Amino acid sequence: RARAAVASLVPGAPAPWVAQVAAHGTRIFADVGWDDTGAWDLAALPDLAHCEAFLPNAEEAMRYTGTTCPRAAAHALTAFVPLAVVTLGAEGAYAVDRRTGETAEVPAIEVEALDPTGAGDVFVAGFVAGTLAGWRLADRLAFAGLTAALSVQEFGGSLSAPGWSEIATWWRKVRSLDGQDPAALERYAFLAGLLPEECARRWPLRRAVPTIGFRRPA
Ligand SMILES: Nc1ncnc2c1ncn2[C@@H]1O[C@H](COP(=O)(O)OP(=O)(O)OP(=O)(O)O)[C@@H](O)[C@H]1O
Ligand SMILES: [Mg+2]
Repeated sequence: RARAAVASLVPGAPAPWVAQVAAHGTRIFADVGWDDTGAWDLAALPDLAHCEAFLPNAEEAMRYTGTTCPRAAAHALTAFVPLAVVTLGAEGAYAVDRRTGETAEVPAIEVEALDPTGAGDVFVAGFVAGTLAGWRLADRLAFAGLTAALSVQEFGGSLSAPGWSEIATWWRKVRSLDGQDPAALERYAFLAGLLPEECARRWPLRRAVPTIGFRRPA
């Protein structure tokens, strides 16, 4: 039993566990990848019917819905799933919640992107965390985008996912810089109640370094 699960949907390859755990109350958050069949047919993703949320990137969302705009795609996807979140890479993310009629858009945080591997996965993980915590939609998008933005600054996928101390350090740093847009800072004000000060003091962290794909000269 779990409060939430992430399903990586594959066209034409239904995963029976999705319906099983959903029936026991697990909230399912679905991601998807490039459709190698080229069909881009939502009927090939029957497990979507058991999911609370679907979080494709813009290209995937537009192809699956036959639209040319990621925001229109998000709206179209809510015919299939209660909550559609379309990620827009370095532009952020847009979400539509059919149950509340709410929409939200949060721009990405400007970072030096070193390695985008896993940005989508880290985004989903951050979104699940915020959802289980009961935050409002815009805060969930902001938190997911922050975790993903911090991860693309480092090499690797899961290894670059931030923990609370990276988030606390970021929050302390952005508030200490001159000339910040107060409205932009306000978007992350929800972090204030979550981060103990000592989190930010534990820095720098020792971080595991990915070894696959890296070769040093002998
Ligand atoms: N260059 C970037 N700068 C800041 N944030 C980024 C950047 N790239 C991605 N992100 C964050 O990560 C989220 C997911 O990225 P993207 O839309 O590229 O997903 P994706 O294509 O599914 O990624 P993946 O290749 O990991 O599956 C974005 O919504 C954004 O919040
Ligand atoms: Mg993806």
